[in-house]
Amino acid sequence: MLKVNVKASESYDILIESGLLAKTGEIINSLVKSKRIAIVTDDIVDVLYGDVVVESLKCNGFDVCKYVFPNGEHSKCSDNLNNIYDFLCENSITRTDSIIALGGGVVGDITGYASATYLRGVDYIQIPTTLLAQVDSSVGGKTAIDIPAGKNLVGAFKQPKCVICDIDTLKTLKRETFSDGMAEVIKYGMIRQKELFDILASHNMDTIWEVIQDVVFRCVSIKRDVVQNDEFDKGERMILNFGHTLGHAVEGYHHYETYTHGSAVAIGMCLITEKALAYGIGSQSMLNNLIECIKNYELPTSVPVQLKDLIPFCLADKKRESNNINIILCEDIGKCMVKKMPITDFYSFMGIS
Ligand code: GLY
Repeated sequence: MLKVNVKASESYDILIESGLLAKTGEIINSLVKSKRIAIVTDDIVDVLYGDVVVESLKCNGFDVCKYVFPNGEHSKCSDNLNNIYDFLCENSITRTDSIIALGGGVVGDITGYASATYLRGVDYIQIPTTLLAQVDSSVGGKTAIDIPAGKNLVGAFKQPKCVICDIDTLKTLKRETFSDGMAEVIKYGMIRQKELFDILASHNMDTIWEVIQDVVFRCVSIKRDVVQNDEFDKGERMILNFGHTLGHAVEGYHHYETYTHGSAVAIGMCLITEKALAYGIGSQSMLNNLIECIKNYELPTSVPVQLKDLIPFCLADKKRESNNINIILCEDIGKCMVKKMPITDFYSFMGIS
């Protein structure tokens, strides 16, 4: 089993291996304060993995209750959050009990936020079942729900007690969902590790399985390093946003309907790298390598939208600070920087007069 220890406001392990779901009870036995636990999951994940997790917990003496909600981003809302609170109350979950988030990013984010706020905070364990959740959203303690004004606008930092990444769960993902996660994986290579990027560039959607455990380990280790240095997202953690300012703009412009998050981030990484090149940062060969690698994972590299139409969505980005915007630029593969820019300069950076 591969293990990555995170030393943030809480110290916890991220465990990576095939077949870990069946060991959930064993793994968390020594981490939790009581034998009562609530699982929160969605309807798709429940059918696939609900029983194996419940069984493992019961075999280890846990008293388990389970809340299942409809899958999809629309469930990451205040109504569903209130339903989760009601469920926790109805099942008498107390401060010494714990909550498990079993599923992808939506499950992890809303369950994490419920855990951060219910009774002013109860322990929770992340069991991410998508590639995106394993390499990104389950690690680092960002929790959130969406509100009508935007995605992830209400949230809290709350680190989990443990993250359990069962590599086998990636095998049941739709090809498009796996591809979605690969965009974040490529991002890690671009911002921090040329060795990872080279592994990705030498594989494709069909062969990456040969090295997937190592790839997840590398991504999680990079995220651990960044989170340890800047848990509360005041500086270095912004580098995880490479490709995201334009990616969020692409998603927002299309009302979050046309492009998945990963597809939009893939486009965002290409666009920002192209603009950085015109600005004198990076190189044509780096841009070509990035585009090639993104294509290996069946992700888009451009979008048929005028850049000026994306700008208003960029300016709504959470990384904006008053009249400045922070953008992440890669100088080389594996090496990036945070560039703070006045909004007025951002227009010319994007080639808009
Ligand atoms: N997903 C970006 C972060 O955790 O900071």
